Amino acid sequence: MEEQIKRAAEAIRNAKYAIAFTGAGISVESGVPPFRGAENSVWSKYDPECLELNYFYSHPKESWGAIKEIFYNFMFKTEIHPNEAHKVMAKMEQRGMLKCVVTQNIDFLHQEAGSRNVYEFHGTAGRVICTKEGCSYEVKPQDMDLSDMPPRCPRCGALLKPDFVFFGEGIPQETYKKSFDAAEKADVVIVVGTTGEVMPAGMIPILAKRHGATVIEINPSRSSLTNTCTDIYIAAKAGEALGLIAKELAIDVD
Ligand code: APR
Repeated sequence: MEEQIKRAAEAIRNAKYAIAFTGAGISVESGVPPFRGAENSVWSKYDPECLELNYFYSHPKESWGAIKEIFYNFMFKTEIHPNEAHKVMAKMEQRGMLKCVVTQNIDFLHQEAGSRNVYEFHGTAGRVICTKEGCSYEVKPQDMDLSDMPPRCPRCGALLKPDFVFFGEGIPQETYKKSFDAAEKADVVIVVGTTGEVMPAGMIPILAKRHGATVIEINPSRSSLTNTCTDIYIAAKAGEALGLIAKELAIDVD
């Protein structure tokens, strides 16, 4: 692995436009369960149907019941904090070595670690939207009463929807454009903690590769990208690998 770490650090050091593409795996060391591939993965306990857009509107109570258990009970109950991997990426951005993070995650941990250019490709769990008037509300334990299901807009009483992307729902247009523009410009993509299976998000590293980028992948298990798209595969956890790359780049994470 040492060889791959050195090659990855070299590629990042010489990059003109390095970006990161992250998935649930980067937050596993922060205590956030992944969606797939682990005993405690979300889809081993819940039917993904609960996050189908049509199901949400036809069965709002049931869908919100699962959403509350999967995301909000967990978020409100558990103190989750950025781990070494999130912090290294934020430092890389501060040092001008990383232009942006395109993340599939809705846990806000990149921003909490200090990253500023974060494109939330699948939206965020931190906000809910009124399905009638479109106004949005921050989801904070003290402000968000999730006792009555499904939650309703305090202003007009319409159904509230989490501001993350459901299966069968389009990607927010501006985020989509910024993410794919970054992928086209990238000469290095650091892919961390994703199966790469969910589209169109999974096209980010593929498009970057087509435009000549070097793809670095950090994942303890091989993904759908490893054999087809990845140039430098580091079979390690996000925190460990990015900690070693940070050392090579003389980045110290407090
Ligand atoms: N460090 C790095 N990678 C890890 C770690 C770790 N500590 N632990 C697990 N992984 C890897 C797994 O090997 C797997 O490849 O992270 C990946 C997690 O895969 P998923 O749970 O499928 O996450 P992701 O690829 O982000 O899912 C994409 O699917 O359900 C939808 O919208 C949801 O954004 C999500 C999308």
